Amino acid sequence: MNEKQLSFLDLVIYQIYPRSFKDTNNDGIGDLKGIISKLDYLCDLGVNAIWLCPCYKSPNKDNGYDVADYRDIMDEFGTMEDMRVLIREMHSRGMKLIMDLVPNHTSDKHKWFIESRKSKDNPYSDYYYWFDKPINDWRASFGGSVWEYVPERDQYYLHSYTVGQPDLNWDNPKVVKEMQDVVDFWVDMGADGFRIDVIDQISKDFEAGRNCFGPNLHKYINALFGREKTAHLFTVGECWANDIEEIKRHISADRNELSTLFQFDHLEAGRSEKFTPMADSLVTVRDILIKWQSLTQQHQLLYSLFTDNHDNSPFISRIGNDKELRYESATCIATMFYLLKGVPFIYQGQEFGISSSHYDDMSYFDDVESFDMYNRLVDSGLTEKEAVEKINFGGRDNARRPMPWDNSVGGGFSEAKAWIPLSSRVNEINLENDLNSQKSIFRFYKAMLSLRKNNIAFRKGGFKAVSSDGDKYFVFEREYKNETFTVVCNFEQPSVIECKDFGTLVLNNYSDRVGAESSFRPYEIAVFKA
Ligand code: GLC
Ligand code: CA
Repeated sequence: MNEKQLSFLDLVIYQIYPRSFKDTNNDGIGDLKGIISKLDYLCDLGVNAIWLCPCYKSPNKDNGYDVADYRDIMDEFGTMEDMRVLIREMHSRGMKLIMDLVPNHTSDKHKWFIESRKSKDNPYSDYYYWFDKPINDWRASFGGSVWEYVPERDQYYLHSYTVGQPDLNWDNPKVVKEMQDVVDFWVDMGADGFRIDVIDQISKDFEAGRNCFGPNLHKYINALFGREKTAHLFTVGECWANDIEEIKRHISADRNELSTLFQFDHLEAGRSEKFTPMADSLVTVRDILIKWQSLTQQHQLLYSLFTDNHDNSPFISRIGNDKELRYESATCIATMFYLLKGVPFIYQGQEFGISSSHYDDMSYFDDVESFDMYNRLVDSGLTEKEAVEKINFGGRDNARRPMPWDNSVGGGFSEAKAWIPLSSRVNEINLENDLNSQKSIFRFYKAMLSLRKNNIAFRKGGFKAVSSDGDKYFVFEREYKNETFTVVCNFEQPSVIECKDFGTLVLNNYSDRVGAESSFRPYEIAVFKA
């Protein structure tokens, strides 16, 4: 790895979904001032960067992923002045800011689209994809056709997501230039990097029948980030590639494109779609992690370590035990991901074991994807009750309920009614209860992140899998020069794991473990230093 890649291994990134993080003016919606008020909390946890989900001006057809102005802040979240204060406060604490860049589509309320739809010959007419007739029968991500008719032009435009999110036409050089300017604007504002929304879709391959991985994809990524002005940035692209050659084309150091990718192999593990539970999942996840740790190591690529984000219900509720073993599974999952080699991303609330909600009807849900899925499930023959169960399991709303900070009414998120109902488990799972508990997930995260911070082996050292295929646990080594750590993560069932040669115990999640005892209880972890 080169110097730049190595330096990114020092990052620990915390993802904030601003709408649901902290409300300071009691309108029920999180805001930038709320984020500022929690910066000391985040430093205490041990993170040194924030990925901020979109906070640009937006009509919120897809909660900010429909941008109406890339250079202004959503009214509910605050002002550009608040943004300047946030950046200043972050930088003064040594924290980096990763903005969310949404280059594939804008809102239909963006000035470019408002102009574009007026006629076939105006300066913006080719900013989007316009056709006289639909050229395929693609389904939009949140339902319906991707084609929408506009009488003024007597033409159809392409929208891969909601009708309110027209896809930008990157084959128009003016669009490339506009988006470069947006990037530069935020670099000048002080952004240290970007998470790039559905980057694989900015070049389409209509002939191959897909809205992604088109022939000019790398030319466009290069235009965005292969410039002198952007050379220092940390960039992570959301990308549905799972082939190593494809991944290399995005993040090999010599290509000057992206630093790393979010790829989703481990979240998709063994399931047909995200609304259905899967069996024996941690073993599957382990094997996928081993595969990608090895491949990225071999090809000198930067891997991203994450289990949760705003598009998935909490990993612990799908793959761990979020009931009687919530502390144990939360800490086990954290250990098996965040002590690997790569850049850790922690989603808000994960640090105290936020789990999925359970609600009986759709009035408690908000997300476009949840409603689309619900309707499809009912159409396919499920009862309403069965369909709601699926949404409870896999819906994005689970990841978007207000942060439960404490036991006050409103969970310490807001004194007003929140924009989306609080978690059904808010009185049980909140930060205050976690900190008052003997078994605090927050304190475990803090200890784990400090172990990572204080030992170069966890950040820059090599990875080696020790456990083998048939095992129902994960043992791996991290090694740098003469320093070796062995990490043992047991899964659901008790196991016997010989560890007397691993050295001194430096981290554990069952408080009565003394050292190298070989019997491991459900989700028990132990980290040793040789
Ligand atoms: C990405 C975002 C998701 C959004 C979609 C459209 O997948 O993470 O939240 O709905 O892109 O922008
Ligand atoms: Ca607010």
